[in-house]
Amino acid sequence: MEIFKTKKTLLDYIERQKEMGKKVGFAPTMGALHDGHISLYEAARKENDLVISSIFVNPTQFNNASDLEKYPRTIEKDIEILEKSAFVDAVYIPEVTDIYPEGLKSKEYNFDGLENEMEGKFRPGHFNGVGTVVEELFRQVKPDNAYFGDKDYQQLAIIKKLVEKLNLPIKIHGVPIYREKNGLAMSSRNKRLDHEQCEAAKVIYETLVKVNDWFRIITVSEIYQRVKDIFEDQRGMVLEYFEIADEATLKETDFFYKDRNYRAFIVVFVGDVRLIDNMHLD
Ligand code: PAF
Repeated sequence: MEIFKTKKTLLDYIERQKEMGKKVGFAPTMGALHDGHISLYEAARKENDLVISSIFVNPTQFNNASDLEKYPRTIEKDIEILEKSAFVDAVYIPEVTDIYPEGLKSKEYNFDGLENEMEGKFRPGHFNGVGTVVEELFRQVKPDNAYFGDKDYQQLAIIKKLVEKLNLPIKIHGVPIYREKNGLAMSSRNKRLDHEQCEAAKVIYETLVKVNDWFRIITVSEIYQRVKDIFEDQRGMVLEYFEIADEATLKETDFFYKDRNYRAFIVVFVGDVRLIDNMHLD
């Protein structure tokens, strides 16, 4: 596997690969790799000649300094995982100046309102940070296909919108949520949970499964009340938000219309670790 630590070496490599007509699949990450990331690489491997990943903890998408500081950084281990997986041909580990040559500042995007829902309300500026880093990485890596986890469903929708608005010739693929045996969605942040918290956090997934059972049987407001009750009983956990939203607009719904698709979204603090999950309702 090739490792590129500067923009210049990456760009030379990409140019050579493109000249050879290689189809490039790309999965950007912030490192602390786990099996969820591997599932992105596996999907990319099936559809591309070349699979590239990046590892960059993007400061502008953190609206909380302590979250940025505590974000796990395990670069040596990540490289080992990548080598072992054998799905990835090259990894790009840029310097901050390769992504932000003019200083750490996000661009301002209009994602047609998607950015104002859910995470947008709780993490102001987050999606401008994500848009800025992903746009820059896309411009450098020039992928044909890019892969993102369904776990960050709103982020996935926003990246699809980014590509559409900027007219970038990149197909965006969502990859199903990869879960621990107990149902907890895999996330780099899980590394900050102790064993007990990891076990207790399965209630997040279990709640989503229950919501799916209640879907179209009881009203939206009854579902909200039941979810609230579940988390009131959990020690060491705080429900930040639970929403059922239209999958296309990400707007919260208070009624289930027949011909629309819905998804339940949830964010829970387990101790000081913020965990996010979602589930399509059917
Ligand atoms: O999902 C992530 O890991 C990050 O938000 C991303 C897409 C790599 C941008 O920093």
